[in-house]
Amino acid sequence: MNHPLYSIVTTTAGAVSILHRPTGEIMHNPVGPWIEANALYVEQSDLRERWKGHEGSSEFTVYDVGLGAAANALATLHCIFDLIENEPNLAEKPFRLISFEKEIELLHYALSHAEKFPHFSGFEDPIRELIEKKSWKKSGVTWELREGDFLEHIESEETRAHLIFFDPYSPKMNPEMWSTSAFRKLFARTQANQDGGASLFTYSQATPIRVALFRAGFFVGAGKSTGLKNETTVAATEPSLLIEPLGDRWLKRWKSSQTPYPFLTPPEEESEIREFILGHPQFALNHVPQKVR
Ligand SMILES: C[S@@+](CC[C@H](N)C(=O)[O-])C[C@H]1O[C@@H](n2cnc3c(N)ncnc32)[C@H](O)[C@@H]1O
Repeated sequence: MNHPLYSIVTTTAGAVSILHRPTGEIMHNPVGPWIEANALYVEQSDLRERWKGHEGSSEFTVYDVGLGAAANALATLHCIFDLIENEPNLAEKPFRLISFEKEIELLHYALSHAEKFPHFSGFEDPIRELIEKKSWKKSGVTWELREGDFLEHIESEETRAHLIFFDPYSPKMNPEMWSTSAFRKLFARTQANQDGGASLFTYSQATPIRVALFRAGFFVGAGKSTGLKNETTVAATEPSLLIEPLGDRWLKRWKSSQTPYPFLTPPEEESEIREFILGHPQFALNHVPQKVR
């Protein structure tokens, strides 16, 4: 029987994904959930080295914002458990993955089609336990679920993030998640720079989103291309965490952009945002990595 909200689809690139029927939005990049999860989030964030090299007093923590069909979360866990298998001395090193999701029905749906998503293999029981108990643990690895609205959960989140995999629906469908106010809440839960700082990875390269990230306190850079997207976005609490910080070329394009402000910006705030961007330290740094915060 057809599900009222979701259906399995084949993308233009031939990968299996899930369609959100009410909005017509496909959940993943055409390259498919697994390739996108590994390329855009796991590899690009240098998760392996960031976790292995982490020595601060805080527990190394990844936020998975928009758990959805769990591709990003499972790519993260596969990466960590592969590392542990190769380097058993890491088995007890603490690692925390916190997944945020308001529509857990999607994960039930994906799980009921697990044969179509090879990344579920071996993780069916952990996922069931996560859904039921909101937490799953093995060795030093803890996976927690914050079920409900991310924008509410984040305000009382006790564990700060080192890495943020930010994967809500598109701004058209999910505008509140891409607002300056949402990114400010997130920034307030990032690790302090003396404890490694934090980096955020997302698939969008839209100017209003990049400006909202700047406004929230992040430094902002270009991320690698995936599938049909020639660029994505990386943001960080300090510029030295960015490989490709936005520079003069982006600023020049921003000045003549048709959409230079975050979505839903009231007209009376526009001139303040203009001054803020033009005077932002990132553009005065001349791309020399420095500790700022
Ligand atoms: C593009 S899908 C995520 C795909 C997922 N990362 C994966 O690996 O399969 C976006 C997800 O974000 C969730 N979402 C959107 N707004 C949210 C909010 N305010 N709080 C929690 N989850 C939200 C949606 O329910 C949906 O599951």
